[in-house]
Amino acid sequence: MSGEPAVDANSATLDGKDPGRVLVFDTTLRDGEQAPGFSMSRAQKLRMAGALADLGVDILEAGFPHASDDDFASVRTIAAKVRGPRICGLARCQQGDIESVARAIEPADKGRIHIFLATSPLHREFKLQMSRQQVIDAAVAGVQHAQRYCDDIEFSAEDAIRTEPEFLAEVFSAAIEAGATTVNVPDTVGYTTPLEIAERFAWLRANVRGADRAVFSSHCHDDLGMAVANSLAAISAGARQVECTINGIGERAGNAALEELVMALHVRGDLFPDLHTGIRTQRLHATARLLSQITGQPIPRNKAVVGENAFAHESGIHQHGMLKHRGTYEIMRAEDVGVKKTELVLGKHSGRHALRERLSILGHDPDDAALDEIFTRFKTLADKKREVFDADIEAMAVGRDPDAAGPWHLGHLHATSHFGSSASASVRLTHDDGHEVSEAAIGDGPIDAVLRAVSRAVGHDFSVNEFQIRALSEGGDAQGQAAISVIHQGRELRGQSVSTDIVEAAAHAILEIANRIEHFTVVEPPARSAIAR
Ligand code: KIV
Ligand code: ZN
Repeated sequence: MSGEPAVDANSATLDGKDPGRVLVFDTTLRDGEQAPGFSMSRAQKLRMAGALADLGVDILEAGFPHASDDDFASVRTIAAKVRGPRICGLARCQQGDIESVARAIEPADKGRIHIFLATSPLHREFKLQMSRQQVIDAAVAGVQHAQRYCDDIEFSAEDAIRTEPEFLAEVFSAAIEAGATTVNVPDTVGYTTPLEIAERFAWLRANVRGADRAVFSSHCHDDLGMAVANSLAAISAGARQVECTINGIGERAGNAALEELVMALHVRGDLFPDLHTGIRTQRLHATARLLSQITGQPIPRNKAVVGENAFAHESGIHQHGMLKHRGTYEIMRAEDVGVKKTELVLGKHSGRHALRERLSILGHDPDDAALDEIFTRFKTLADKKREVFDADIEAMAVGRDPDAAGPWHLGHLHATSHFGSSASASVRLTHDDGHEVSEAAIGDGPIDAVLRAVSRAVGHDFSVNEFQIRALSEGGDAQGQAAISVIHQGRELRGQSVSTDIVEAAAHAILEIANRIEHFTVVEPPARSAIAR
């Protein structure tokens, strides 16, 4: 793109006061979390929601409250505890779903009900078995019902990109007339291209009745690797809300990556003049790493903006250029996204003060009690390994998931392996109610033996879905992170742990899963009442 600015600034925004503001709608905890490998516990979602609020997202989609009691409880907890962003919950176009969202977001300062209904011919015929008119009627009824509880309503036309434009315009016109304040155009299957989506947004904004009363939003999936490019094209054509996730996590190939979108708008301000977001870009790196720590899913080294290699200049030619002028090979500064380089590696002689400083550089700000705990763990680790790296410190700062911190605890673990024959393991587990269980098993390697022994001890058969081990940092004494996922009663449960002993890490990871099973709670939704209008 060059020449004329690509931005049409004449579009509605949330409050109508700032036409240059691109609202960042984060769906890490909904579209992101529903992807295999990224499930989070309630405590983990709350922690992530706090980080997203610190990052400055405008709207935080906290979950799909009608999907499960746990989803409901997570959204409600976030609505009660997280301040700053507007807290949003997803609902199908059904009264029960809408009422669940209304109850879940009730404690929020600012809430949003997000209703979706598929509009494309494929979905109408094969999924919904609904005529065009039935889709319009359902959309209107859904928005009207939501209006009884909340005055901020988003309507999403699922598979909008593959919907006949004239029909889509009819649906959006009807939704806005019924009270929708945001209309979202999802590229649900990641099918569109930048040129096509820009044309579609421009056309819709010209043809939807009441377009100037609603914010137009994009929601792009990455099946063809164009989610960020498509979102930027939508912004160029007047979208003033972008739906995205940290590290681009999400269904299938994921959603548009928040950090890439925000930095593209920032770095290419020449192409997007007068547009801005409320994101504190210096928090991008810490937020991306926190998500990776919580989910146990590493960020690819070459990931744009937040990958480890994103600011590394290895080749001699590049280094030479950089020494002459940073701009030769650098379009944004590492500091702008919160990467703070340091020569300092902590070790056993480092004190509490040095640890606090390092934690703060890494974006963690524990209170005194939490710092004491981290410091104790730090000292134990520093006795085992000579150098304590940033990744070790981050793992300590995130710690174990409080939602899986009992009732089972590891009392004793012994594992042996022999070249050419089976491995064996014995474990002793203690339970919060005071009883102890000891079990032993043989397996195909020490980790398999430990998993079997723990499974016998807690009385659950784990069908392991995914098992990953990776070194957290460099060197032969690096800590290993074990991440395990199992399917239990149709849902994915994940556990992870970090230790200098990888067999011990695996034992803690599977124990985390056993504890999650024990923790399944039935959360009673609170009594129905309307949220503030
Ligand atoms: O991709 C999609 O269509 C969605 C909607 C629910 C917004 O995630
Ligand atoms: Zn989606």
